[in-house]
Amino acid sequence: MPLLHVRGLGVRYDNDVLALEGVDLDLDAGERLAIIGESGSGKSTLARAIAGLLPPAATVEGSIAWPELGRVARNGRDIGFVFQDPGSSLDPVISVGAQVAEVVRVNLDMAWPAARRLAVELLDRVKLPEPALLAKAYPHQLSGGQKQRVAIAAAIAAGPRLLIADEATSALDTIVQAEIVSLIRGLVDEDGMALLFVSHDIALAANLADNIAVFRHGRLVEAGMTGEMIAAPVSDYTRALLDAHLGLDA
Ligand SMILES: Nc1ncnc2c1ncn2[C@@H]1O[C@H](COP(=O)(O)OP(=O)(O)OP(=O)(O)O)[C@@H](O)[C@H]1O
Ligand SMILES: [Mg+2]
Repeated sequence: MPLLHVRGLGVRYDNDVLALEGVDLDLDAGERLAIIGESGSGKSTLARAIAGLLPPAATVEGSIAWPELGRVARNGRDIGFVFQDPGSSLDPVISVGAQVAEVVRVNLDMAWPAARRLAVELLDRVKLPEPALLAKAYPHQLSGGQKQRVAIAAAIAAGPRLLIADEATSALDTIVQAEIVSLIRGLVDEDGMALLFVSHDIALAANLADNIAVFRHGRLVEAGMTGEMIAAPVSDYTRALLDAHLGLDA
């Protein structure tokens, strides 16, 4: 029984852009799936549709079911969502410890002092130095990589079944990007979470994911196991992406 079962998913925005069309996708518990495609291919639309984060003006058809949960998954509780820009996903006027604690309090129905303690533990889990001290800091006092670690701590705070990272490392420099990818891999392994890793970078995705789904113009072009797809892509489009990112011969 898959964790996530998507059938015939279509999303149209109010400007009449058809952002997704006829998408079928299954995700097993603990599976690491990368969603790949160029800008505008519908990757974020898919991620947001799954997390219930589409704007109200979006029209959705098809079905998104959670067979293992037996109910609709809740963002924050069952799904942790990490956005591209850690600066905009954090509130500038609230200390980072309080922001993580708030996720804990709301989703796990925990009292504030216990939530604050758990927040410090979570900041430690995402390998931030001196977490008790850092919990009192505000986002502008942190580097981009540190802010993204806080955003990841908030995303995993309630022990979600699925972590969605939408270009979560794209705004970071290469070294910090590698550190965040390694952090995500470690957390997903430790907690047995499923991972939906959204990226335009097939090399980065291949490094992290068991399976890859390639999107183009809102449609699923090709899906399969990472090793097989890299070795022998079926579609010309996937081959072109691989050539561009891995420098392979056509
Ligand atoms: N809120 C919105 N309102 C209207 N159109 C939108 C909205 N969000 C996305 N779109 C359009 O839907 C299509 C898919 O966009 P989406 O953001 O899902 O692509 P993406 O693959 O995530 O791209 P990127 O790699 O640039 O993040 C694009 O044509 C985009 O312009
Ligand atoms: Mg996007």
